[in-house]
Amino acid sequence: MNIDVITLFPEIVQGFFTNSIMKRAVDSGKISYNLIDFRNFATDKHHKCDDSPYGGGAGMVLKPKPLCDALESVGAKEKRVIFASPSGKKLTQSLSEELSKEDNLVFICGHYEGIDQRVIDLYVDDEISIGDYVISSGEVSSLVIIDSVYRLVDGVISSESLEEESFSDGLLEYPQYTRPEIYEDMRVPSVLLNGNHKDIKDWRLEKRLRKTLSNRPDLLEEKSLDLKSQKTLQKIRNTAKRT
Ligand SMILES: C[S@@+](CC[C@H](N)C(=O)[O-])C[C@H]1O[C@@H](n2cnc3c(N)ncnc32)[C@H](O)[C@@H]1O
Repeated sequence: MNIDVITLFPEIVQGFFTNSIMKRAVDSGKISYNLIDFRNFATDKHHKCDDSPYGGGAGMVLKPKPLCDALESVGAKEKRVIFASPSGKKLTQSLSEELSKEDNLVFICGHYEGIDQRVIDLYVDDEISIGDYVISSGEVSSLVIIDSVYRLVDGVISSESLEEESFSDGLLEYPQYTRPEIYEDMRVPSVLLNGNHKDIKDWRLEKRLRKTLSNRPDLLEEKSLDLKSQKTLQKIRNTAKRT
């Protein structure tokens, strides 16, 4: 997958592509990327990329011409273009899965009050929100989307690691433990030490269901559970009623 990021602040984005798992994905050729500083497309003397909003109001809006010229330079009309925005549709694991199948993604990073609507009308395929709150930088929100997508590209992370993650089958993840066995008088649950894979699997399923029931009951309503999960959930609910 190739990822183009159109931004006024390439330094904010660069570090993500040159560290950790993303670095490995880039080094192995599974991901390539291109950071485009659209200030380079502003032709006036001061390379001005923002201006005050028509109709009045606070803040500055990113001008259409430098952004559109930057988009043309990466052939954006032939690619799937994403604008991270609080007024977009919400990012979900299934949307990330869908985007991970694309060969090319282009991200436009908003800043200040946002970008001129005509850029969206001309180029944007998906306006995506990372949640119901406002942050100051489209670089950060684009990176959230990029991070949730690239790790699902074939071969970037082992499929085993992705299998039991939160949301993978509509449930949240079970608790994880590593060495030492005892920390601050707290022991790792003994079931994880006995090597019985069936017991471990049952324990993890129960923990996933309990956590989902407690933190995100809405997920249990959205997804149809398999028979084993339904029975375990019923048991958890019955026990809760009795106590
Ligand atoms: C200060 S925000 C602009 C907010 C905009 N005036 C509004 O009220 O919707 C600057 C940029 O941060 C990014 N951003 C802020 N919150 C976001 C969110 N929840 N999801 C995705 N991007 C967000 C967008 O790229 C946005 O253009």
